[in-house]
Amino acid sequence: MLKAKILICDDEEGIRRYLQKMFVAREYEVETFADGTSLIQRIEGGSEGDADILLQDVRMTDMDGIEVLKRVKKLRPALPVVVMTAFGTIDSAVEAIKLGAYDYVTKPFPKEKILSVIENALEMDLLKKENRVLKEELNRPDAADNIIFVSDRFREVYELTIQVARSDANILVLGESGTGKELIAGSVHYNSPRRGKRFLSINCAALSDTLLESQLFGHMRGAFTGAITSQKGLLEEADGGTLFLDEIGDVSASVQAKLLRVIQEREFIPVGATKSKSVDIRFVAATNKDLDKEVKEGRFREDLYYRLNVITIDLPPLRERAEDIEPLAEHFLGKYARRIRKEIRGFAPEALKLMKSYHWPGNVRELENVMERAVILARGDLVTPDVLPIRPREIAVAPPRDNRLISLDVIEREHIERVLRQTGFHKSRTAEILGISRKTLDRKIAEYEMALPTSGPSSHDA
Ligand SMILES: Nc1ncnc2c1ncn2[C@@H]1O[C@H](COP(=O)(O)OP(=O)(O)OP(=O)(O)O)[C@@H](O)[C@H]1O
Ligand SMILES: [Mg+2]
Repeated sequence: MLKAKILICDDEEGIRRYLQKMFVAREYEVETFADGTSLIQRIEGGSEGDADILLQDVRMTDMDGIEVLKRVKKLRPALPVVVMTAFGTIDSAVEAIKLGAYDYVTKPFPKEKILSVIENALEMDLLKKENRVLKEELNRPDAADNIIFVSDRFREVYELTIQVARSDANILVLGESGTGKELIAGSVHYNSPRRGKRFLSINCAALSDTLLESQLFGHMRGAFTGAITSQKGLLEEADGGTLFLDEIGDVSASVQAKLLRVIQEREFIPVGATKSKSVDIRFVAATNKDLDKEVKEGRFREDLYYRLNVITIDLPPLRERAEDIEPLAEHFLGKYARRIRKEIRGFAPEALKLMKSYHWPGNVRELENVMERAVILARGDLVTPDVLPIRPREIAVAPPRDNRLISLDVIEREHIERVLRQTGFHKSRTAEILGISRKTLDRKIAEYEMALPTSGPSSHDA
């Protein structure tokens, strides 16, 4: 990815050159301006998003730097600005911050200082944008109705979701990666009385403790280095709505304690504040960790676990509901074909067979990725096996089983696959090991729609 574009405005040529050299060496794109007038002109002539950050001196000869900042903020409110002030002019820094600058540095500054300030500002900005993008995505009116399934396994889960959505209970969504945890969390919200308020989401594993806390609870100005202004947290923004806590199993003990307080007392204290705020939030949490085990081993608070896990929605992996593969594949095929305006009618029978027999360790997400790729690579109007990056022998790599209860069929199917693989797909030997007749084995292979390799010496041993 290309690094960010920085606008630098300073009337001292030496400073401009120094900064430009430093940022270009770190692969940033840089544009420099010698005075406020040319900077304003550039911004007026440009467009939203054509620059990522502005580094601006507050003392310039042609125009008061504060005046420049005011005009910039009016033209481009979302553009993060870092101001440079001379030693002893802290008042102008304070004023700049009040006007919406993100941070300030005092000249002369060491290289590391200016780099870290710029990088922090860009990271905060990215987080803000990500939240916004996610919000818009999830606010699409059809987001809750886009859930595709035909299997009874998933129907049960879906019906439970709709039913519990109406209550106000906190919900824990479990499931392997890519099974649709976030999608289900969204339908809980959109099928609940809270649907008029916000559904916000945060990935607890992706953020450092400090950032997670400040994102969740918000912070007061001066709460930590870099906290130049006060900021609302997601709890406050989602007030009245639903907050999705993704990867809850990765939350530290200190954040766990704070979350427990929010759930029990319905109030929280923003980082650096002294007074608490009250909120009304429904929590949906998700994890692909075994939370029971985390609790037993002392890494996750039991009381928090019970508060979050009033109702569990357990999403079955795709391989345990193979009937859903075809409708999902068609759904994604349509979606990506429309997107690139390619006419594809459907799947060649061998392609369908291959997809149905694959074990999809990455579940629906993997299927979606495979379909996107297939649409791009397909040559005719049908998807053929050669554009599917999945191989039938992978069916035999049974993933480690957790302690969930599953049906005998699934175990039977996986066991047959395992033995087939170990014998190099030698059917007679497989039947012998399994203690069933060759005919029964053939029947089961057909029944479970297992795709065996069609080439190679050991696959035809009739
Ligand atoms: N039943 C379904 N119908 C339609 N799309 C689905 C379905 N299940 C999952 N998806 C899609 O698959 C992708 C993965 O789903 P989602 O992000 O909800 O999974 P997840 O369980 O949160 O995954 P991870 O554990 O990797 O975060 C998303 O694009 C989602 O829209
Ligand atoms: Mg997810």
